[in-house]
Amino acid sequence: MCGIVGIIGKGDVADLLVAGLRRLEYRGYDSAGVATLVNGRIERRRAEGKLVNLEARLKEQPLPGRIGIGHTRWATHGIPNETNAHPHATDRVAVVHNGIIENFVELRAELKARGCTLESETDTEVVAHLITLYLKDGMKPAEATHAALKRLQGAFALGIVFAGEHDLMIGARRGSPLAIGYGDGEMFIGSDALALAPLTQRITYLDEGDWAVITQQGATIHDAEGHVVKREIRATALSGALIGKGGYRHFMLKEIYEQPQVIGDTLRSYVNPTSRDITLPSLPEALVTAPRMTLVACGTAFYACMVAKYWLERIARLPVEVDIASEFRYRAADMPKGGVTLVVSQSGETADTLAALRYARAQGQHIIAVVNSPESTIARESDTVLQTLAGPEIGVASTKAFTTQLTVLACLTLAVARARGALSAADEGRLVSALIEVPARAADVLNHDGRLRDLAQGMIEATDVLYLGRGTSYPIALEGALKLKEISYIHAEGYAAGEMKHGPIALIDETVPVIVIAPSDELFEKTASNIQEVVARGGRVVFFGDAKGIGGLGDIDATCIALPEVDPFVAPILYSIPVQLLAYHVAVLKGTDVDQPRNLAKSVTVE
Ligand code: F6R
Repeated sequence: MCGIVGIIGKGDVADLLVAGLRRLEYRGYDSAGVATLVNGRIERRRAEGKLVNLEARLKEQPLPGRIGIGHTRWATHGIPNETNAHPHATDRVAVVHNGIIENFVELRAELKARGCTLESETDTEVVAHLITLYLKDGMKPAEATHAALKRLQGAFALGIVFAGEHDLMIGARRGSPLAIGYGDGEMFIGSDALALAPLTQRITYLDEGDWAVITQQGATIHDAEGHVVKREIRATALSGALIGKGGYRHFMLKEIYEQPQVIGDTLRSYVNPTSRDITLPSLPEALVTAPRMTLVACGTAFYACMVAKYWLERIARLPVEVDIASEFRYRAADMPKGGVTLVVSQSGETADTLAALRYARAQGQHIIAVVNSPESTIARESDTVLQTLAGPEIGVASTKAFTTQLTVLACLTLAVARARGALSAADEGRLVSALIEVPARAADVLNHDGRLRDLAQGMIEATDVLYLGRGTSYPIALEGALKLKEISYIHAEGYAAGEMKHGPIALIDETVPVIVIAPSDELFEKTASNIQEVVARGGRVVFFGDAKGIGGLGDIDATCIALPEVDPFVAPILYSIPVQLLAYHVAVLKGTDVDQPRNLAKSVTVE
């Protein structure tokens, strides 16, 4: 949420800042802005809306300057308009910020009392004024910034430049990620290494509480107390090439279509192709003996955890607690020392998931992370990292990250089941074979794309849609509903099919499409009865099942999509794909911004 970038360059930096923001736009697109020093003075260009608006502004009013900072905003405090757009500045200091300054109300009052005029409604502007006051008190920029940082509560990554200081930029991190990039006589800061990838491959991630004084020659990093500290410079593997849509209309569609490939890539890194053994990095002994495991994540990643709960409890005989990170972290639950907590995150930067991880660590847990970004904070703070090989996911709605998370969690389930002696060799062989088949079956599922597009046509007038499933199909129902609401803005709910009669069935009438996810498994008959109950009340059923299940429904009035017959173990991975495609086509037909839906951002680094 919010992307920040900063450059001390050799030539004018405005274009490079905008290019960096283009790579960070997934983090927010409510407004964008840049500030540079022109003859020592802070000059800004800002624009409401997407980055193209800022680019147009810069075309009309170019901005020279060899040092500058840039920002793409996901609004927290203050509506998305130009006044609230970053950078925020006084005549002495300009600041870009990702995060939330929680004590900004008090600070605003204090600053006003001291005669400052604040022009925006943001929390960020107080930082610029606070540093300015300390400068006016006679402090040097680094000293003034350190003094200001000590006054801030909340989470932030900050990029700061100072009027008259052509060779000085300060970056600070508490809660939100910030990377420093080392060039040849140039220096950079960015919210992630992806933003800096075309500029440099040499990156340092600031640790919690760090702040860095950056000049053309390098960076001096301080910890929260102000002591100079050394942080490792790493080579990032990220390519500088701007990721394209590869001929697809949207990133989301491209990423849906990449699933056979990336599920295969992920499987190959965890399944030995000859012995068909699951090979994971060494698992903690506690997983063998643990009475319970805790899984925590947000959003789509949380639904991946829900599926894993069914798998781990059923196949590995390991009781699992699964929770939404933003709830878990405040519940102050006691956790058994030596237990295992697993967090799942595509970005590896989600603020609540990271806080849950830190809580679990403080409770003496071994932390396993399933992440897509191996350089992320969550990956760096975990004991065991299981990477999903989804590649960069740019569409805001998560698709390939989800199915690769499920793939990793399926492999983990089998490894834990074996280690706990809960799985016979024959069953293990059957389940591994089913997993190995998934990429090919995923490609089969994609063949239904045209049919799903036709189906979507009949849903665009709907104002409510229900998704039903049982067992591992229940989280897929939740995921289907989430996909539809986030990109098409149609209200949708996922329900456990058996729960319908306890209330939600009252919503059923002929205007409400009911999407039922029911592969042939041992719960099929139960779900089939729930379908009858919906049809009896005039509901419009869309059935995602296999040929056997469709046959089992008899003459029922439902639109059926026949998906491949697979072992129920892998069904949640495959049944995710049609729900993604359905949501995608509904959104396209409704004309929404599929890759950058309103009010959302890809990486949620605020609480
Ligand atoms: C929905 C979606 C979000 C994310 C959630 C967690 O399509 O993408 O619900 O799943 O914000 O993000 P990560 O996985 O980066 O922790």
